[in-house]
Amino acid sequence: MTIRVVDYNSVRGKYILLRTDFNVQIIDGKITDAFRIDATMPTIKHLVSNGARVVIISHLGRPKGERDESLSLRPIAEYMNIPFIDDCLNKDFLQDMKNGDVVLMENLRFHIGEEKNDDAFAKQLATGFDIYINDAFAVSHRSAASIVGITKYLPSYAGELLMGEIENITSALENPVRPLIAFVGGSKVSTKINVLKKLVTVADTVVVGGAMGTTFNFANGAPVGNSLYEPDMANVAIEIMNMARENNCEFLLPLDKGVGKNFDKNEKRIERDVNDIHDDDVIMDDGEKTIARNKTVLQNAKTVIWNGTFGMAEWGDVWGKSSFAFARELARLTTEKQIKSVIGGGDTVACLDAINVHKDMTYVSTGGGAFLDFIAGESLPGIVALEK
Ligand code: 3PG
Repeated sequence: MTIRVVDYNSVRGKYILLRTDFNVQIIDGKITDAFRIDATMPTIKHLVSNGARVVIISHLGRPKGERDESLSLRPIAEYMNIPFIDDCLNKDFLQDMKNGDVVLMENLRFHIGEEKNDDAFAKQLATGFDIYINDAFAVSHRSAASIVGITKYLPSYAGELLMGEIENITSALENPVRPLIAFVGGSKVSTKINVLKKLVTVADTVVVGGAMGTTFNFANGAPVGNSLYEPDMANVAIEIMNMARENNCEFLLPLDKGVGKNFDKNEKRIERDVNDIHDDDVIMDDGEKTIARNKTVLQNAKTVIWNGTFGMAEWGDVWGKSSFAFARELARLTTEKQIKSVIGGGDTVACLDAINVHKDMTYVSTGGGAFLDFIAGESLPGIVALEK
């Protein structure tokens, strides 16, 4: 796969349409996490320093073609301290732009043509521009007009964030220093079937945890009480464990769990072995033996891929115990240069941020669904559109 990348020597005075993924959480007009915005800065700075006229486009949320002020990108323009244009099809301001100027346009998804990959909308979007750059890895799994359709109308290239994502994730999967150990948590097996099937073919060890791990324990005959799990995924879980065996991939399940009696962050935490979960127990985290086992497994790793927390980390220390302990140890081993760590997924990145270890990891992806699809080996339409 060879992807077209922009030649920065040729952008002076050119109108650049830069697709970013600024789909970040904004509460009361305040951005709660600017990671995705900051991650596009290298591309923006590079374009500016080479005299390009940069117009940034993005989506935010799922407004389904309707204008919704709560999903306006205006707070992001304020955060970046750049002018804001309140409709992505407005072209009037272009004539006033000077070399090195940057502006942000309003949410693409206020137009229904964006999500529908509508050809007429893509053409309108492209009008007035010289070059299109995709730096929006996190939405490159969507066939949207600003991701796919637009490439029919403008010379199209990948930005630095997009290339960095492709290179870092690909090298962890295809050319890792071994052992490669993948840790996969989160709530549902059903959303990660293809990821797990891929990982058992490339990793030396796959460790599952969280509610997803509970489904695997259930498939092996363990009781799960009143917990969140997917009974109808038991056959898939068995198929994945069989695939792991056929590929000589060690496959590890949770050994014990932190449980309460209600799905509530104020519950008292009780530790139980997976074979001793009571009928009225609610599993909300992986347990202390599993935490210790995962730390031991980590000592042998040279490359680690991690997606998905192992419990309710968003509730803080009690139910985030296993995720935080794991993240801390991974950060320590990464900074001591024993491990290359590649991490993706919104909840997982939020877990890193909660304990301030984001900066310690080798590579943190901006992708959620796109990260999973890429790991699973699926073609991302936005990347395919940039292939030579
Ligand atoms: C994401 O946050 O994963 C991307 O921005 C894609 O958003 P979507 O799932 O609404 O298409």
